Amino acid sequence: MQIGSIDFGERPLFLAPMEDVSDPPFRLLCKRYGADMLYTEFISSGGLIYDADDSVQKLDIYDEERPVGIQIFGGNVEQVRQATRIVDAIEPDLIDINFGCPVKKVVRKDAGAGILRNLPKMERIVEAVMEGATRPVTVKTRLGWNDDSIQILEVARMLEDKGIQALAVHARTRSQMYKGEARWEWLRRIKEEGVRDIPFIGNGDALTPEKVKAMFDETGVDAVMIGRGAIGNPWIFEHAKTYMATGEVPPPPTWPERLAVVAEHLTLKCEWLGERTGVLEMRRQYGGYFKGFRNASNLRAALMEETTKDGVLEVLLNAKENADEFQMSVPATPSKKPKATRSIPAAVKAKLPTPSAQKQRAPATVG
Ligand SMILES: Cc1cc2nc3c(=O)[nH]c(=O)nc-3n(C[C@H](O)[C@H](O)[C@H](O)COP(=O)(O)O)c2cc1C
Repeated sequence: MQIGSIDFGERPLFLAPMEDVSDPPFRLLCKRYGADMLYTEFISSGGLIYDADDSVQKLDIYDEERPVGIQIFGGNVEQVRQATRIVDAIEPDLIDINFGCPVKKVVRKDAGAGILRNLPKMERIVEAVMEGATRPVTVKTRLGWNDDSIQILEVARMLEDKGIQALAVHARTRSQMYKGEARWEWLRRIKEEGVRDIPFIGNGDALTPEKVKAMFDETGVDAVMIGRGAIGNPWIFEHAKTYMATGEVPPPPTWPERLAVVAEHLTLKCEWLGERTGVLEMRRQYGGYFKGFRNASNLRAALMEETTKDGVLEVLLNAKENADEFQMSVPATPSKKPKATRSIPAAVKAKLPTPSAQKQRAPATVG
């Protein structure tokens, strides 16, 4: 499968754009574990043209993560046009337009999935992006606004006619939000009756290696995009690939391996955002990494208390030394809060993975 000149080989796996999740540190971890394509979280075109710090920061991409796409959203054609030029100057491998976000404050401005109610304007937005982009433009959308207005086959053809180079569809309507099952039967129809020559990327409920394979087998999509299945679980890409090649799902990472990945995630976050913000932002990730483990809530509580990187690393080290407290099971007895050790032995510290990633460039200055 190919998008523009990027050759992905057979059955590639894409990391979904996810707000507050798909940042550079997490993308790097997913890349390490086999993700073939990465996207930034969605970035507001208005935020970019008004130089809002949080939007501009989301443009950061590491060289090591390529190919990477920058995803933008917006319902104002002129703003999207200008934002495209800003994004294009950052030199991502592709520019993706978000026509799928279901959130109220986004859709009411005709952005995200809101545009599914105004297809002529969707065309104008795509034209504006195509005009400003010197690299492939792709779209990620949903089946339609609601069950009474599923027009995805027409939308797919229109988008291809406009010149987009790949289409990703989350197989739910906007009204479904994240409820119910993703409707994979529509993925098959879009592949067979919607897109003609461009690659089609399936998305929605590919949450395990088995489901990733099933999506390929049952729908014929060219690539599978994984979202929630990767949260706290970046090795899903490698596991899905092994499963597709051998029929066996590798065992989950050992407890020390899991802790080492959390430590590396933290280190990358701190490198990217500075220690204070990195430690704070990392708090959102612990739930995913320790889901289903006995005493996980105590461990999370202990991690949340820490305000420095070394403090978090101490708690992780302590959790490593007391591995028998954290087996995958339902809590049987009231658990103790893990105690931090005094300091991390140098030998252990040396074994913590060091991030090789360097920022490709300082955040862009835009305006
Ligand atoms: C926390 C979170 C944030 C998301 N943010 C974005 C986003 O910024 N852009 C986007 O196109 N979709 C976003 N999505 C939707 C996902 O990309 C994906 O379409 C959806 O989760 C379905 O895939 P999954 O079943 O593999 O999770 C987000 C989803 C989640 C759970």
